[in-house]
Amino acid sequence: MQRILVTGAGGYIGTTLVPMLLERGYTVRAVDRFFFGRDLLANHPRLEIVQEDVRRLAPEHFSGVDAVIDLAAISNDPSGELFQDVTWAVNHRARVRCAEIAKACGVGRYVLPSSCSIYGFQPPEVKVDETAATNPLTTYAKANEQAELGVLPLASDDFTVVVLRQATVYGYSPRMRLDLAINGMAFGAWKTGILPLMRDGSQWRPFVHVRDTASAQIFMLTAPREQVNGQIFNVGSDENNYQLGPLAETVAATVPKDVRIEWYGDADHRSYRVDFSKIEGLGWKAERRAEDGVREICEKLEGGQLDKTAETITLDWYKNLAKWHALIKQVEMYGGIFDIGIDEAARREAAE
Ligand SMILES: NC(=O)c1ccc[n+]([C@@H]2O[C@H](COP(=O)([O-])OP(=O)(O)OC[C@H]3O[C@@H](n4cnc5c(N)ncnc54)[C@H](O)[C@@H]3O)[C@@H](O)[C@H]2O)c1
Repeated sequence: MQRILVTGAGGYIGTTLVPMLLERGYTVRAVDRFFFGRDLLANHPRLEIVQEDVRRLAPEHFSGVDAVIDLAAISNDPSGELFQDVTWAVNHRARVRCAEIAKACGVGRYVLPSSCSIYGFQPPEVKVDETAATNPLTTYAKANEQAELGVLPLASDDFTVVVLRQATVYGYSPRMRLDLAINGMAFGAWKTGILPLMRDGSQWRPFVHVRDTASAQIFMLTAPREQVNGQIFNVGSDENNYQLGPLAETVAATVPKDVRIEWYGDADHRSYRVDFSKIEGLGWKAERRAEDGVREICEKLEGGQLDKTAETITLDWYKNLAKWHALIKQVEMYGGIFDIGIDEAARREAAE
């Protein structure tokens, strides 16, 4: 039985990955700031929760750990642009440092879940594989690329390093993200009958279901070292390479309501078609398609288990946290807002 340290375990992918690891018999040390809540991972005898910032990881966090899946990050382009310094510190430097400490502590494997967004813009006739020149257009994508470049040289005979360039993820997860294309389309279509489509709809984007990308991460824990060490793998499938316009039609046809497509935003400059034959050559294959994700999101909405809250839009939630933090610092006194410890002290005095 292996112990896996998962950073970012309280996030969209993490809250799906951790139960899957536990189901397969792994022991999990879940490290996160838990920006999206601490109650999204159910208690389990083989689950250890560590609330910590990944910039402060120390050797003791790696004790008894066999492998690391390093998910923690500021996880999308708009948040990366608004919080650029933090994005570089967390998405680039903290990940390289995490891999360095892991290696020094004798951990055997390190998996970096990076992003296909580092392909940025590619001509539509080209399907990029892992050897293609990258073209990161945003702070988020650039920090991912630097993280890749920082961790890959650490690969050695006793430290296996695998980089997974994940397609854009979709599907239901306990920490839900409605700021991801398919999820946002499904939510808008179901809730309001209006499906939001980013201009101009001809842009290519690869997708992967959240359980599929988690299964690729788990696959890499035991994949033969000689086939994966120091390697980059795109994670997705050709069936999930979509142009956003036709994708919107597919989502609209899957949602059980009358749906109208509504354009938003300026023309999207990111467009990339991706080749997934390298990971498929190892025996891993994505099992789900966009329709599966849309159907499960509609079921959760129908059942009242999902709605749009500030937490489901990463940028909004981080902006809220920053705003509230500044406000609370201004008004907090004696460690509280209303409760400042006086009543308790008075009670104790009266009792004496
Ligand atoms: N979701 C996607 O479509 C997608 C696609 C490609 C790559 N990725 C990558 O996968 C990873 C996970 O993405 P996600 O969608 O689950 O994002 P998420 O925002 O839901 O999860 C990130 C988690 O990291 C935690 N975190 C952030 N900063 C931290 C810090 N300083 N210390 C400790 N914890 C911190 C957050 O609390 C959150 O739980 C990210 O690296 C992301 O870039 C995601």
